[in-house]
Amino acid sequence: MFSHQPLILAPMAGITDSPFRQLAKKFGADLVVTEMISARGLMQNDRKTRSMLSFELPEQPLIVQLFGRDPEIIRAAALKALDAGAACIDINMGCPVKKVVKTGAGSALLKDTGQIKKILQALARHPAIPFTIKIRSGWDHHHLNADAAIHLAADHGAKAVFCHPRTAVMMFSGAADWDYLEKVARQAAIPVIGSGDLYTPLEASRALKRPGIAGLMLARGVLGRPWLFREIKACIGRETAPSITWSEKLATIFLHWKLLEEHKGEKTGFLLFRKHLAWYSRGLPGAAAFRQRIFSSSGKQELTDLMQTFFGPFTADSGKDQLQDVRS
Ligand SMILES: Cc1cc2nc3c(=O)[nH]c(=O)nc-3n(C[C@H](O)[C@H](O)[C@H](O)COP(=O)(O)O)c2cc1C
Repeated sequence: MFSHQPLILAPMAGITDSPFRQLAKKFGADLVVTEMISARGLMQNDRKTRSMLSFELPEQPLIVQLFGRDPEIIRAAALKALDAGAACIDINMGCPVKKVVKTGAGSALLKDTGQIKKILQALARHPAIPFTIKIRSGWDHHHLNADAAIHLAADHGAKAVFCHPRTAVMMFSGAADWDYLEKVARQAAIPVIGSGDLYTPLEASRALKRPGIAGLMLARGVLGRPWLFREIKACIGRETAPSITWSEKLATIFLHWKLLEEHKGEKTGFLLFRKHLAWYSRGLPGAAAFRQRIFSSSGKQELTDLMQTFFGPFTADSGKDQLQDVRS
């Protein structure tokens, strides 16, 4: 699962739902991860949480990410997710958001390696559960302990570790420290997959060349750009697909809408799609005004018309688009 430097869609709450995961796979992601799912919510049979365990065949092999603190609840939820079709379970040990940290879950676990050990022991118990952990570099700069967490994970049979080399207190400020990540990855006995600040094929191919980096996980770079996986593979010579044309982009954007409608129903699908549409328009001339219009649009036809007017001129120019250098 983690051989050959896989490119992986990172877990993103509110974003990496089934439609987004399907698009990522379509464009060459080797693996995809669900949004974080509450282990406790699953065990309490919460309806909304349970609905997050709904997968489509093209997403496989799929990693389900759980968050929680109680080892037995995490183990029981992991078995439930495997039953629902997950190929592997990832445990969130990196989320810095207050709501999660105050329950002792997410990155709070990095302050308590004893609790990490208890969770890993529960997952490793017979029958063993295929699992990974996702961590940050530590709680803060005085407590960088990704190496200790990786060591524990390896000792308990984890398949890999996903590491985002910012500390928890940094949230998303500053830059991901890839030098630190390389240092800990080189010493690791299991694959360490890097995550952080990968927006272009060139950045990704440089990261893949770092010794010890066993693969990449992409998050914000693929918002409004699920085709980035294919562009990276073209850049590193693993795929010969041409760079994406505007007509393919537009077809993808409409496919995203259709999948959201199928998965979430027309009304919720519409609301969620507008958020993605804002990302799809990012960086294009007139995007700010377009975003204002889409968020005040109220119906499918109005939104479709807005999209045709906004994206139409780009598709007309798609011949030029094909010559674009994907490494820029
Ligand atoms: C909107 C958003 C939601 C996220 N949700 C999760 C999550 O549910 N679980 C998790 O482990 N990380 C989550 N992350 C962190 C990402 O998986 C990733 O590690 C981080 O964004 C760094 O990668 P990037 O620089 O490529 O964005 C989230 C990030 C963003 C931006």
